[in-house]
Amino acid sequence: MSKTKIYYQCQACGHTSPKWLGKCPDCGGWNSFAEEKSFSGKRQASADDQYGRSAPLPLSAVEGITEKRVPTGISEFDRVLGGGIVPGSVILIGGDPGIGKSTLILQIFAGLSARPGKLLYVSGEESPQQIKMRADRLAASSDNIIVLPETSLEGIIDAASKIVPAAMVVDSIQTVYTQELPSAPGSVGQVRECAAKLVLLAKRSGIPVFIIGHVTKDGAIAGPRVLEHIVDTVLYFEGDRGHAYRVLRTIKNRFGSTNEIGIFEMSDAGLREVENPSELFLSERPLHVSGTTVVACIEGTRPIMVELQALVSQTSFGMPRRTSIGVDFNRANLLTAILEKRAGLQLGGMDIFLNVVGGMKIVEPAIDLGIITTIASSAREVPVDPQTFVFGEVGLSGEIRAVAQAEARLKEAAKIGFNHAVIPAGNAAKLKGDFGLRITGVKDVSECLKALLS
Ligand code: TYD
Ligand code: MG
Repeated sequence: MSKTKIYYQCQACGHTSPKWLGKCPDCGGWNSFAEEKSFSGKRQASADDQYGRSAPLPLSAVEGITEKRVPTGISEFDRVLGGGIVPGSVILIGGDPGIGKSTLILQIFAGLSARPGKLLYVSGEESPQQIKMRADRLAASSDNIIVLPETSLEGIIDAASKIVPAAMVVDSIQTVYTQELPSAPGSVGQVRECAAKLVLLAKRSGIPVFIIGHVTKDGAIAGPRVLEHIVDTVLYFEGDRGHAYRVLRTIKNRFGSTNEIGIFEMSDAGLREVENPSELFLSERPLHVSGTTVVACIEGTRPIMVELQALVSQTSFGMPRRTSIGVDFNRANLLTAILEKRAGLQLGGMDIFLNVVGGMKIVEPAIDLGIITTIASSAREVPVDPQTFVFGEVGLSGEIRAVAQAEARLKEAAKIGFNHAVIPAGNAAKLKGDFGLRITGVKDVSECLKALLS
């Protein structure tokens, strides 16, 4: 008979204690203890026996899984996954409460329900009536979707073993608990243990398992972050609740490329796929005003045109305020310093506010040239021509560096109707083909500002 013993372990340094501690006596970390269980006697015999043991086999004899992807019918979602759901994979969908995770999963199930096989929707948050109401709104009701209001992991695994669904979801991981740990649902120990058991279920039975997790404000603690290394795929559903756009982003994918995004729009009938994000993001762009620039970005494999706005104004406090939404704060500060030093702009006494329109977050360095141009345009009060767009990375000495996938960016811009591109000279020299655009290659920041703001 195996006996489980509970102890507490610092998640930062591994120090163990029989009791929970607020501060680790070893590494000094605060709030870093989570409960763990140890086995005396025969370890985890039950879990192994339940599904049979695995045998070692030659790599060449392992069956490939690339051919067996199941498309959900929601193409934005399939692309993010790399072509569809891989059997036996565990997919974590994380996001702020209320962003639309349950809606998304119900729509995915509606898409899957046309295929044979049951779909198991385990909800620890909502009653079957609430789910039904949402399903009616989404026109997603189907005999194939089985709803199970349950929070005990043992009960969930039992039900899954009986039904053997074609896919299942646990909404949300923070509400389920395993009887093996005494702590409350949602604690680090519970979340991790429950997820590990769901992974085991998926791997042994081949059922794809979706896990929904809320990201708490301090994302690292008790949030789905602790699960990222356990699961196969991590998707984050982000967006501003004030905006209708939602971006589904791959953080990790064992079966496809990362950094892929899917763009949705929340409507009164659920999430709608956005096929032309560039047009959407540019639809309300003000023309002929200073402090706005369009940048051709690449998100995953997709070019997207986004509008970047800046407001530069005299500070009314001693300390100038710097804010950036949608772009990295430190990067924006660095580029401001480059503008001062290399282009002679006086920004020391100026407040600078930067914003990517539409609630997008852009992390690639190709946005640098856009940031520089937008700030300079606002500071000098000179508008950038509305038919012109930019992209390029900026180095510390003010040089403009080439970026990847220049052709894809130019094609997207030409499709939307832009006619002039200001891009790194390094990219301009290597371009093949005609894009129907006037192309200006620039070498440094002052050349760029001359091309755009005079
Ligand atoms: P929900 O999927 O419950 O979010 P989560 O599971 O991430 O907590 O959806 C949250 C919001 O979406 C809710 O405030 C209402 C809105 N919504 C719509 O605007 N249209 C719809 O058709 C649905 C189903 C929800
Ligand atoms: Mg929900």
